[in-house]
Amino acid sequence: MATIKFTYLPGDGIGPEVGEAAINVLNAAAGRFGHALDFEEHLIGGAAIDAGLKPLPDESLVSARETGAILLGAVGGPKWDHLKGPDRPELGALLPLRKELNLYANIRPAAPHPALIDKAPLKREYLEGVDFVVMRELTGGIYFGKKGMDNSPSNNISAYDECRYSEAEIRRIAIKAFDLARLRKNKVTSVDKSNVLETSRLWRKIVEDVAKDYADVELEHLLVDAMTMHMLTRGKDFDVILTENMFGDILTDEASVLCGSMGVIPSASLSDGTMGMYEPIHGSAPDIAGQGKANPLAMILSAAWMLRLSFGMEAEAAAIEAGVDAALYGGHTTADLGGSLSTFEVGDWIADHIRSNHAG
Ligand code: IPM
Ligand code: MG
Repeated sequence: MATIKFTYLPGDGIGPEVGEAAINVLNAAAGRFGHALDFEEHLIGGAAIDAGLKPLPDESLVSARETGAILLGAVGGPKWDHLKGPDRPELGALLPLRKELNLYANIRPAAPHPALIDKAPLKREYLEGVDFVVMRELTGGIYFGKKGMDNSPSNNISAYDECRYSEAEIRRIAIKAFDLARLRKNKVTSVDKSNVLETSRLWRKIVEDVAKDYADVELEHLLVDAMTMHMLTRGKDFDVILTENMFGDILTDEASVLCGSMGVIPSASLSDGTMGMYEPIHGSAPDIAGQGKANPLAMILSAAWMLRLSFGMEAEAAAIEAGVDAALYGGHTTADLGGSLSTFEVGDWIADHIRSNHAG
């Protein structure tokens, strides 16, 4: 018996709907294993702005830091697109949350579910056997460098975003990647642009240095432009793809195409120890918000990852994943995956599966 204490940040758009489904599933898993669920719900992003608060209200940040486990829906939407810089939900909430909690290791998987292979726009032969994760550096690089606008001369304004990486930043994310590869298929593919960028040259040097402690893990280097092709044409060759913040942002969207749907991919943003934030890789999907159409599977899988990685609850996480598997194979899904259930009904079906299939 344990208490699962976490911070719940539903956020904007479909965030609250998929979040409600995930909380329902978490309740079922907690009940089955005799745990107590105890979460603090807080505002973030546009929802916080609408309530007259900052995009990342102090109480949300304090709660996140205290519980050390965060389940996040989605932030942002066209309603707040007119806002600038740190007033925006993305720049003012998501990025500072990552930075403040030192969530430097972002893990996003790409392993097409057998029930979804026909939904992907690529031929089956490129999808079967694909099973890799991207380890994206999340608190450095161009996202967090000095940025600004130079207004002179006024007839040719310029803007800049500095990209900087320190040895320590590269080393710690490389260690995470090699450690993870050891639990998987013992291969790290480091992606950079070392034919052009100084940060990439340092990246490659440090990654090679870290690799010396992992003689059992194979290391390859690829340039990011080539990687965008290799990922789609020989995805099954990869295990852990290690890359910096901006390249990881781009490559993880591309990787989602291999999975048939963005609606089924969870993610974890980790720090040292058990501190972690868990969120679907999809966005706030404002066009379908509030209609019960959103696919909650990515959020439900993110909740499972939270149990596994922040609470060490492997069996509990596996029970949720088995429920998601059963829903996918049985077609108990939302319309985007060909089913006829609402967002909440999908969560409820999985909650029932967790309770009844493995009662006692
Ligand atoms: C992501 C998103 C964010 C990012 C945006 C919303 C700031 O695209 O998590 O991949 O660029 O990191
Ligand atoms: Mg992105």
